[in-house]
Amino acid sequence: MNNEKVPTHIAIIMDGNGRWAEQRGFPRLSGHQAGADSIRECIEVCGKIGVQYLTLYAFSSENWKRPSAEVKGLMDLLERFLRESIEEMIHQEVRLCAIGRLQDLPITCRHLLEKARERTASNRGITLVLALNYSSRIEIVDAARRIVQAVQDGKVDMDQIDDRLFGNYLYTQGIPDPDLLIRTSGEIRLSNFLLWQSSYTEIYVTSKLWPDFRAADLQEALNDYGRRRRRYGKL
Ligand code: FPP
Repeated sequence: MNNEKVPTHIAIIMDGNGRWAEQRGFPRLSGHQAGADSIRECIEVCGKIGVQYLTLYAFSSENWKRPSAEVKGLMDLLERFLRESIEEMIHQEVRLCAIGRLQDLPITCRHLLEKARERTASNRGITLVLALNYSSRIEIVDAARRIVQAVQDGKVDMDQIDDRLFGNYLYTQGIPDPDLLIRTSGEIRLSNFLLWQSSYTEIYVTSKLWPDFRAADLQEALNDYGRRRRRYGKL
């Protein structure tokens, strides 16, 4: 693969699992299952080419409103992914972490996430960030609350509050902003994902459905990114 300009951080909105399944007359969950294979392939490719962070929108705070069988299926799939992929992640030097209101996830999920986080903490390869029960607006509200608390406690002075300090109170503290955000299935919107962090992110939308998005498609996104000129508001 030829990657002259490798993004430090790629974020992905993995959309289209349901449609992929419906097109084949399969239950929606089989689309999510196939989507988990795309995840594995992306982690492997990103790790190999030197991407340092990969953030995946795996479950939004709004996704709880889906039928309970689908929600349970997604949680089961996440648990299975954490159980079955842990050894592979360790082998690939993947460091796993998660962002979102994790406290509201089912207890087994939380335990598995915590175990995976601990077991991969000293890995030196790509950091895989799973966005789970994630809402960017809630993240910003949570940050605002914590900053107000810090001001009340005398730990932060009002005059110190700027965008840098604010960023340090987000779930993504310590993680650089994404350079490239990929959305599959052709929808052109952010859907409450990394709103603050994507201020200067290059956005790439492909009509491919997530379960069909594999190494060659990722390479196409990277080639497109390589042709972009990022200006950050300058000339
Ligand atoms: C959007 O497709 C996708 C999701 C809501 C969940 C993404 C989850 C996975 C890819 C697999 C499970 C995650 C892990 C980490 C193992 P959609 O259902 O909205 O598709 P549609 O728009 O075609 O209905």
